Amino acid sequence: MTKARSHHTNHLIIAPSLLAADFANLAENIRQVEAAGADWIHLDVMDGHFVPNISFGAPVIAALRPVTTLPFDCHLMIAPAEPYLKDFADAGADRIIVHAEATHHLDRCLQMIADVGCQAGVAINPATPIETIFHVLDRVDLVLLMTVNPGFGGQSFITSVLPKITAMRSVIGDRPIRIEVDGGITAETAPLAISAGADTLVAGSSVFKGKASDWADHIRALRG
Ligand code: DX5
Ligand code: ZN
Repeated sequence: MTKARSHHTNHLIIAPSLLAADFANLAENIRQVEAAGADWIHLDVMDGHFVPNISFGAPVIAALRPVTTLPFDCHLMIAPAEPYLKDFADAGADRIIVHAEATHHLDRCLQMIADVGCQAGVAINPATPIETIFHVLDRVDLVLLMTVNPGFGGQSFITSVLPKITAMRSVIGDRPIRIEVDGGITAETAPLAISAGADTLVAGSSVFKGKASDWADHIRALRG
């Protein structure tokens, strides 16, 4: 029997992004999206410097930590990230994802994430070549290939990222590293990302649209 490719063996993870939730009702929205079938909670931290928008930081994440046992997938869009890694670990992050573009010392930054006791992920923007992260793959359990330019929810999926997903999947080979996509993921674009090799989908506006009673349908639609 031929060996199964890793993206066929990795179970598909859906990680709703709280950026599209109701900020006045985050705790309630987490309970509702968990009941709707979310696997992880994706938390987008923005600093108004690395990206042109400000969202929330470690204190908000700490306040939400008691609400659920689902893993907190913390996507840091901040520069520098290094001074704040311990804060996010203490706040209850399970994984901390940093952008390759946001640090001069990516390898050290990923070691620092391990040192604070979290799983480490590395993200790259649509215009950043995947070669940028080849030499840190042994330090991460997840690669985040942005499918929009980070900073805002509700943007359109950038299809030119699809060949990067395929190429990344072949470089990862048998290593236990997930490929996450983030930005513009809908029932229409999810199958494109999955067939290219993604096994972890972040989705904000396509999950949190409409009434909470519809969210399970939206998550099911992403699973295809
Ligand atoms: C964008 C964030 C995303 C965002 C996705 O900078 O990293 O996680 O919330 O939002 P949608 O799914 O609406 O494109
Ligand atoms: Zn994100």
